[in-house]
Amino acid sequence: MSWRRQSTHTCGDRALMAFMRDPCQPEMGCPRARPHNRVSDYPRTLVLLTMAGPFRAAQRAPCRTTWTNAKIKSMNPFAWDHNAYYQRLLLREVPEGAARVLDVGCGAGSLATRLARHANHVDAIDSSAEMIKAARRQTPANVRCELADVMEHPLPEAEYDAVLSLTVLHHLPLEQALERLSRTVRPGGILAAVASPRTDLPRDLPVELLAVTSQQAFGLAFTTLRRLTSREWYRFEDTHDQMPKCFGPTLSTAQVRSVAAKVLPGSQVRRLVYWRYLLRWRRPQL
Ligand SMILES: C[S@@+](CC[C@H](N)C(=O)[O-])C[C@H]1O[C@@H](n2cnc3c(N)ncnc32)[C@H](O)[C@@H]1O
Repeated sequence: MSWRRQSTHTCGDRALMAFMRDPCQPEMGCPRARPHNRVSDYPRTLVLLTMAGPFRAAQRAPCRTTWTNAKIKSMNPFAWDHNAYYQRLLLREVPEGAARVLDVGCGAGSLATRLARHANHVDAIDSSAEMIKAARRQTPANVRCELADVMEHPLPEAEYDAVLSLTVLHHLPLEQALERLSRTVRPGGILAAVASPRTDLPRDLPVELLAVTSQQAFGLAFTTLRRLTSREWYRFEDTHDQMPKCFGPTLSTAQVRSVAAKVLPGSQVRRLVYWRYLLRWRRPQL
């Protein structure tokens, strides 16, 4: 099944308010609209509340300005892009001298662009036409960007040295996705994915507290570094608003671990601090 975001939010404050009322919005690309008033959603709400300052400034500003979420977030000295931060973790998984790698759900292509330095050829797939257009604009010549639904697109058997995916697995039916993606990894190759888990309280309480408190300090440090250096330091991309998102992951890290253990024996799943998990599996040699 594929889905597209149907409307473009031109007024970031309206979008933010709607998101705070119900973070799972089908028009923002999530297939599973459901009420979000559970205790497990509170940490995320707390993070959103840190955006309240810039949000109010945006409200007072004349309506001629288009206040996109990305713009509001970039004004907030505490906000930074957790996806961009976890790219490093996936890049580390690419085997030395990799010939061909796959980036599943490539978005605007920033991971694929970095992957292109670690592999001879990168295939980057995304089901959003807007994202693929953006990815084609920024990726180098050894990246092939393809508009396709990874659950339907014919993938080569046992071909890739690494299959990577950043913040996409929670958009997909996990078991079927893992089966599909694992078949396209060559023997000895790696499947690695960072995705969002459902917060599982009280089990996740320590990591949630650490995330909520430390992300403010990191945000401030990254904002300062951005001003002092020419590096991006996990800045939100300009295409961030157009990116299809799913704010209501249905599986906790423990549930992902048990599905992965069934489909991919020997896989490892660990919770990462900033609202993500890392799934890692090496395909056994023949
Ligand atoms: C949250 S974004 C992450 C994008 C990118 N990996 C990044 O980290 O910047 C999720 C992406 O997955 C894509 N996606 C969702 N379901 C997909 C599917 N079935 N096939 C291919 N791409 C999909 C969306 O279009 C979106 O660009």
